[in-house]
Amino acid sequence: MCGTRIVIAIVVVAVTFGASQGLAGAPAGSGNVAVSPGTGGGQPTYGDPIPGLSPDQLAAFEEGRELFNTDATPETGLGPVFNKEGCGSCHNAGDDPLVPAIGGAGAIMVTRFGRFVGKGEFDPMEEFGGSLRQMATIDIDCEEIVPPEAEIVAFRVTTPAFGAGLLEAISDETILAGADPGDADGDGISGKAHVVFDPWLETERVGRFGWKAQVANLDTFSADASLNEMGITNILFGQENDPNGVFPPELSDCDLVDDPEDAPDGDGVSSFNKMAVFQRFLAAPPRTPLLDGRGFGLFRQIGCDDCHTPVMFTGDSEFEFLDHKPVFLFSDLLLHDMGALGDEIVQGDAEGTEMRTPPLWGLRVRPLLLHDGRSASDDVDARIRGAIEGVTTPKVLPGHAGEAAASRAAWMALPPADQQDVLDFLKSI
Ligand code: HEC
Ligand code: HEC
Repeated sequence: MCGTRIVIAIVVVAVTFGASQGLAGAPAGSGNVAVSPGTGGGQPTYGDPIPGLSPDQLAAFEEGRELFNTDATPETGLGPVFNKEGCGSCHNAGDDPLVPAIGGAGAIMVTRFGRFVGKGEFDPMEEFGGSLRQMATIDIDCEEIVPPEAEIVAFRVTTPAFGAGLLEAISDETILAGADPGDADGDGISGKAHVVFDPWLETERVGRFGWKAQVANLDTFSADASLNEMGITNILFGQENDPNGVFPPELSDCDLVDDPEDAPDGDGVSSFNKMAVFQRFLAAPPRTPLLDGRGFGLFRQIGCDDCHTPVMFTGDSEFEFLDHKPVFLFSDLLLHDMGALGDEIVQGDAEGTEMRTPPLWGLRVRPLLLHDGRSASDDVDARIRGAIEGVTTPKVLPGHAGEAAASRAAWMALPPADQQDVLDFLKSI
């Protein structure tokens, strides 16, 4: 982790974040009180567009949302294997579970599998349809199972797309400035940017979406999810997933529609592009007011901000509302060695123990925390605590470990009242 960047971040946060959250001038000793759900201050709420869209942009947002929330059918390209019929089937949690907000996280998990070969090398078992399993099929003959040969089976929780356009607009240079892959400054925290080839942009970029920061761009993520979650081929991902590798032999036995199933229109625009616009224009989760900055100060004091960077800035964007804007994401968008918390799946350059620091904004409305949702208490305080400390399910599953072990230890050493201040702060962001 680069020391200068932290100092800069804190100064900026003290000014921008502090002022906007009312951290300054609060009554002394009042403690943090998160007012929930209170979006206050004219902020957009979960699932709303970013303020400032033109009427045409708003129409594009709504068209994309409609597609995002429409269930595909075998006749429109669903399958042969898939996880759910529509993006909105998984991305739907907002402030209130009874009023779903399209684009959010959710409680649905997908399954990855693999095995070790040779000297402990990860094998994604592509010949068996790995590493992502599709749990449903349009034809029972094409069902995909986790092969008995698999040695690792890992679950992944749906991540939210709120504020995704802001994350996308953060420049590679800004993310790289925080990276310290060899831990040159010796603070025990490395931080590796996951550079990936982006098939939509046709260039290398720093990945930032997904639990392994495996995707850099929303058009690409939408095309990838169309194929891998729904079985809809497109111009970026044109080959159907062959369930279980070679069995059954003929994919056409199970799939009715010619590829690409999401074909571009006369202007070269595919449905996945329209869905990407919806996500790009989705507002960040709303913040709730806090009475003072104690919890935030403690969060920094115990080193949470070494990875959960409070604010980054977007770079150049063709959209004024995404251009050079502060992003209060609470993430460095880097991969960290999380030791025993890692999911053992190797994906691109992300090792089995390496996970992306997830943005913490909107934490209070996420029903499951950590990559496999192991922290799942109905009580939000207990849920956040479980993400830091680990949980007993009755199996003992670790929380922050590896490079985050020191920060977890500092958290454990805080008196209960201080821990509560940190929790109240986390529920406000
Ligand atoms: C079966 C449930 C499911 C469906 C259907 C689904 N997703 Fe996801 N989505 C996930 C999961 C799980 C992740 C985390 C994936 C990972 O990191 O491996 C995710 C992650 C994402 C992210 C990354 C957000 C971030 O910052 O990490 C985007 C963007 C996204 N999905 C878009 C879409 C779009 C667009 C569709 C429809 C074409 C879609 N998803 C369909 C489950 C789903
Ligand atoms: C070394 C970097 C690092 C440090 C330090 C760190 N975290 Fe994390 N944090 C992560 C990573 C990486 C994950 C995702 C791990 C996973 O799910 O496998 C995570 C996940 C979380 C989550 C769950 C988010 C979600 O979307 O499920 C919470 C809450 C959280 N951290 C809070 C904290 C707090 C509070 C501190 C300080 C005590 C802290 N973190 C310190 C890297 C870090």
